[in-house]
Amino acid sequence: MEFATIPETSLRISRIGLGTWAIGGWMWGGTDDAESIATIHAAFERGVNLIDTAPAYGFGRSEEIVGRAIAESRLRSRVVVATKVGLEWKDGKVFRNASRDRILREVEDSLRRLRTDYIDIYQVHWPDPLVPIEQTAEAVQTLFDQGIIHAIGVSNFSVAQIKRFRRVAKLHVVQPPYNLFEREIDAELLPYCRRSGLAMLTYGALCRGLLSGKLHPDAHFDGDDLRLTDPKFRTPRYTQYLSAIRRLDQFAQDRYGKRVIHLAVRWLLDQGATTALWGARHPAQLQPIDEVFGWSLDVAAMAEVDRILRESITDPVGPEFMAPPPRPKLEALAAAE
Ligand SMILES: NC(=O)c1ccc[n+]([C@@H]2O[C@H](COP(=O)([O-])OP(=O)(O)OC[C@H]3O[C@@H](n4cnc5c(N)ncnc54)[C@H](OP(=O)(O)O)[C@@H]3O)[C@@H](O)[C@H]2O)c1
Repeated sequence: MEFATIPETSLRISRIGLGTWAIGGWMWGGTDDAESIATIHAAFERGVNLIDTAPAYGFGRSEEIVGRAIAESRLRSRVVVATKVGLEWKDGKVFRNASRDRILREVEDSLRRLRTDYIDIYQVHWPDPLVPIEQTAEAVQTLFDQGIIHAIGVSNFSVAQIKRFRRVAKLHVVQPPYNLFEREIDAELLPYCRRSGLAMLTYGALCRGLLSGKLHPDAHFDGDDLRLTDPKFRTPRYTQYLSAIRRLDQFAQDRYGKRVIHLAVRWLLDQGATTALWGARHPAQLQPIDEVFGWSLDVAAMAEVDRILRESITDPVGPEFMAPPPRPKLEALAAAE
């Protein structure tokens, strides 16, 4: 495992973090508690010390499972817990709410579910267009000043929104989507974070399983699995992504004796992600971690990867379909009164 320090904090984090969205079940076709806990323990055994979760993942369930797994392993002081704030849910639907009241209430719920009295990294999950960024930033800074949270993060924020946030509060971490197929941050956010000393916990390392190399043209998903609505998984586009994966896998084998899953995560780390968040819900899914370390892509390999992507995917699409909507306006007005 490689480790990195989050600037201006004492947090030392593994460069692969366990993502626990699927462990919450919601939008992933359900979950199994015992298997989830075994997955978290398997991550610790492989040297992962960063666990990323959120209240919205399974409407509290992911945080509860993470809290239970850490308590059972008695490793709280050695685990870096990253959770989030600023989404509310009603009747199975999720809306943005990053108001001061919501944040101050939600942190208490997270602490209870996580069975802890502090949160290492607290991230605003999505910018809320109905709440001034300054209000959100001030509320999170208050929690930091009280010592309840040890680092402040934002997720899915643009550079302009980050600059506004930083005028009011400290910022240590950003959490954008980033993987071989979703590279919107290359243009602005990535260079900005490098220049500003912000740690980047990038999410979706495997692009919802695509870059595992295990998916095939007839893969089927059950229940509320988000891949049923993910535009990347719809033909004819799906065929383009699968073709890119085949070529990347061949390249990884020929050049490095690795597979596409190792290449996908190594590429992220070599591009400058501080930590790649890898979603898993079965212990065996973490087995490939060891092969991500001890090598890196050189300039020629980076160029070859780009060529394969350019040639294979002629109709790319981003992760925008995952963005939760703001609260319905009337409700937001009533809440503000
Ligand atoms: N801030 C945000 O807005 C945001 C948004 C999305 C994600 N995240 C964070 O980032 C984390 C990672 O992103 P993600 O969960 O979307 O997805 P991901 O890492 O791109 O993919 C995770 C999925 O890939 C499959 N997988 C993992 N390892 C595998 C292996 N070895 N072989 C085959 N399949 C494998 C699993 O799906 P199956 O079990 O179905 O096979 C797993 O649930 C999340 O868990 C969450 O913590 C944050």
